[in-house]
Amino acid sequence: MNYLSPSILSADFSRLGEQVKALDQAGAQYVHIDVMDGSFVPSISLGLPVISSIRPCTERIFDVHLMIEEPGRYVKEFAMAGADLITVHAEACRHLDRTVTAVRELGKKVGVALNPATDLSCLNYILPELDMVLLMTVNPGFGGQKFIPYTMEKIRALRRMVERRGLSTDIEVDGGVTLQNVEEVLLAGANVIVAGSAVFQGNLAENVSAFLEKMWR
Ligand code: DX5
Ligand code: ZN
Repeated sequence: MNYLSPSILSADFSRLGEQVKALDQAGAQYVHIDVMDGSFVPSISLGLPVISSIRPCTERIFDVHLMIEEPGRYVKEFAMAGADLITVHAEACRHLDRTVTAVRELGKKVGVALNPATDLSCLNYILPELDMVLLMTVNPGFGGQKFIPYTMEKIRALRRMVERRGLSTDIEVDGGVTLQNVEEVLLAGANVIVAGSAVFQGNLAENVSAFLEKMWR
């Protein structure tokens, strides 16, 4: 099953609640929420109070992407604020297993994110514990960047790894996904598609429908 996870990093924050409702009505299954701490990545985006205040706007899956150092310090707070799926960066966790286990014990789904240049081999032991792997296809920190071409092969390699091991791990692709390249990204093996600028630039409802049309499966 394929899922669309529009990234609210590209939303108009003055009308955030309204836009989250519009994503839901347009049929997007997830809401991708990018949390940045100004240390793991250069930007600072939004945090716990924003997540709590948009939680009543929709029952869709809150897909929280933590681009913060040592996210294990905060997973409980993000779970309480309304996250359904919590994704942490392998590069930001000194004790990745401990952090993954902490998310599972909170009863939430757990994902691990990898920066473009991080090798898939770091997933070797942890993969069976994960609901999802998020592959960054731009350097994290900003919306509206260009898809890094070599990451396409990385998506294929991860799909092979998941299948070889008989797992059903979701593969989320984040960064530079557009209506032009989404089919190639799906074909490479992704099944959760993040799109920020490509959803919020222009007509949100039309963009969501256009993505869903290409993702139908
Ligand atoms: C980047 C974030 C992305 C970002 C994607 O660090 O993790 O989720 O919002 O934006 P686009 O789709 O515009 O590349
Ligand atoms: Zn993201």
